[in-house]
Parts: sequence; structure tokens; C-alpha cells
Amino acid sequence: MQKNLKELLSDAKGAMKVANSLEALKEVERKYLGKNGALTELLKTLKDLSLEEKREMGTLMNEVKVAIGEALGQRQRELERSEIDKALQSEWIDLTAPGAHFPIGHIHPLSQTQEEVERIFQQMGFTVIDGPEVESEFYNFEGLNIPAHHPARDMQDTFFLNKSPDAEEGRLVLRTQTSPNQVRAMRKYGAPLRIIVPGRVFRNEATDASHEHTFDQVEGLLIDENISIANLKAVMADFLGRLFKREMRVRFRPGYFPFVEPGMELDMSCLFCNEKGCRVCKHSGWIEFMGAGMVHPNVLKAGHVDSKKYQGWAFGFGLTRLAMMRYGINDIRHFQSGDLRFNMQF
Ligand code: FA5
Repeated sequence: MQKNLKELLSDAKGAMKVANSLEALKEVERKYLGKNGALTELLKTLKDLSLEEKREMGTLMNEVKVAIGEALGQRQRELERSEIDKALQSEWIDLTAPGAHFPIGHIHPLSQTQEEVERIFQQMGFTVIDGPEVESEFYNFEGLNIPAHHPARDMQDTFFLNKSPDAEEGRLVLRTQTSPNQVRAMRKYGAPLRIIVPGRVFRNEATDASHEHTFDQVEGLLIDENISIANLKAVMADFLGRLFKREMRVRFRPGYFPFVEPGMELDMSCLFCNEKGCRVCKHSGWIEFMGAGMVHPNVLKAGHVDSKKYQGWAFGFGLTRLAMMRYGINDIRHFQSGDLRFNMQF
């Protein structure tokens, strides 16, 4: 039996040596120490021996069991180490290699300008509101004192859509200006009111360096008691000064828009020559900036505002053209070109 035990130990060690995975080693363990394993089978024969032999063989068998256990443990550690080595080799990464470069997006120059405009007007107590790009003929024209027959409609060549589901509001149009939100806001919030409405507008334009069919405007509306155009002059000079971070002057010229009376155009001092005269301002020292005026009583009426108690002014400027001036961009068509070489510069 002693001989058997010695053979069993050396067989087990031999089997461990050739087991070259943890799974195979488990199999070896089962084969020798498992429930029906070789050593367990030998243990079962102990009962047929004399007491003296039992004691001797029992001790020996225990020693063999411990020896097999230790050898298994050692082989297991060897195999684990080699598996880690293998994994390290196949999954090796060079921590010092330069990382992959992911291009980071950034805010479009038009959005940057809009955010800045909103920030400044909010500081002055204006609320920023939004309105629909697909608008009804009523809000885009009639409510603004431009009836169907009025020649002022020709000033804004319009994209018409299908009939509005609400027949009273006329056809649907892609809004040609942000001004429809004057009546919308008056109806929704009443007076007094202090809002700006930035947004995209659409006109059937032959495009060139300063004209797009799709561009952005910012509408402004202030309604309260005792409001005069002097307030508008102060607000705009302050706004432009904060935007361009320098002192700015503004001036009014008469201008015609059916929804304001009196109507005017507001010019700002030329950024490029400080009113001395240059190519950009066509040697006048002033740059056309926006349309404005005192809100027409008919528009207040359309907005359900009491024109005896309240009056106000409104303005509308081209946000896209403002962004052009802010960044020195010489062609408006770049904005919607989707060309990253353009966008990444700002
Ligand atoms: C209007 O759209 C009026 N709603 C402005 C207004 C509001 C007047 C409130 C009075 C009271 P106008 O058509 O001039 O006005 O356009 C306003 C600004 O939009 C212009 O000063 C210009 O900066 C810009 N703009 C007009 N047409 C284009 C175009 N095709 N491409 C780019 N910008 C344009």
C-alpha cells in the first residue's frame, strides 16, 4: 500500500505538471482528492487493516493528501501568474502614448451673439420670449396694421404655406419678421410689458453678401405709461455700448413701417472709423442698425391693450448682420454654409 501511495503522489504531481489551465488543474484535483478520487478510494481500504497498520497508513495517507494539496496550490499559483502574463501581453496599453484626438464642438457665432444680446437685455429688465416660425397671416400682417391690399406687403416677399386651420387667422406663412410677437405677447401678458424676441425669419430674397432668405432678427417691445422715444434712444445706446464694449452713439432718421407711428430707422456710430467716415459706413460715419418707432394704436388694439392708458415703442434689428459687424464677417452666406473652416474661427 505504501508503494501505491508513493505512485499515487508521483502520478498526481505528473498530472499537475501537464495540466496547463486552471480548468485542467481542477480536473486533476477531482481525480485524486474528489469524492471518488484515487486517494479517497485508498482511504476506503483502511477499514480492512489491523489497528497498528491503520494508524501507520492513516498518517501516511494524510501526509500524501497534504502533499497533493500543497502541490495543487503551487501549480495553481503558477497557472494564475501565467494567465495574468498572457492577458497583460494581449491587453497591453502604452500609457505614455499620445491620446486620440476628439474634435470638440463649439457655439456657432450667431448663437454666441444671440446669447450676448439676451444677457444684456435681461440685465436691463427685459424678458426673452419665443414665437412660432410658421406664423398666421394675421399675426404677421393684419395684426400689425398691414391689411391684405396694403402695398407694405411688397416690402417683404413672403413664403406662404397652406390655409391656417383657424380661418380667421388667414393663411400660414413662414414669418417674415419677428414683429408678429408684439401682438402675441400683448395678448398673452398684457401691459406693462418689456420683452425681446430673438428668432429666425424667412423672405423670398435674391441672396447676396448682405441678404439671406433665412436670417435672424431680434424684436424689442416696451409698453408702459409715459413712454417716449427718448427711452428707446437711451436703451439702444446703452445696449450697443455694452455689446461692443465702448461708447456708442445712435441717431434716428424717419422710416416707414405700418405698425409704428412715428416710424424711424436707428443708425449707430460707425465702429470702424469713429464717425470720421470710411468705406464700411459709406463715408457717412453712421451704420444703419434697425427699424423702430412708437407702437401704432391699431397694434395696441389688436393686442387688447388700452391705447389711452399705455403707449410704447418697438424695434427690430438683424441679428445676423449684427454678428457680421461683431466678428468682421464680410458675407452673410457663410453663416449657413455649414463650413467648419468658417465656424471654427469664432
Ligand atoms: C422689419 O423687419 C421690421 N419688422 C423691423 C421693425 C420692428 C420696425 C419693430 C419697427 C418696429 P426690416 O425689413 O427693415 O424691418 O428688417 C429689419 C432688419 O433685418 C434690417 O435692419 C436688417 O438688419 C435685417 N434684414 C432685413 N432683410 C434681411 C436679409 N435679407 N438678410 C439679412 N438681414 C436682413
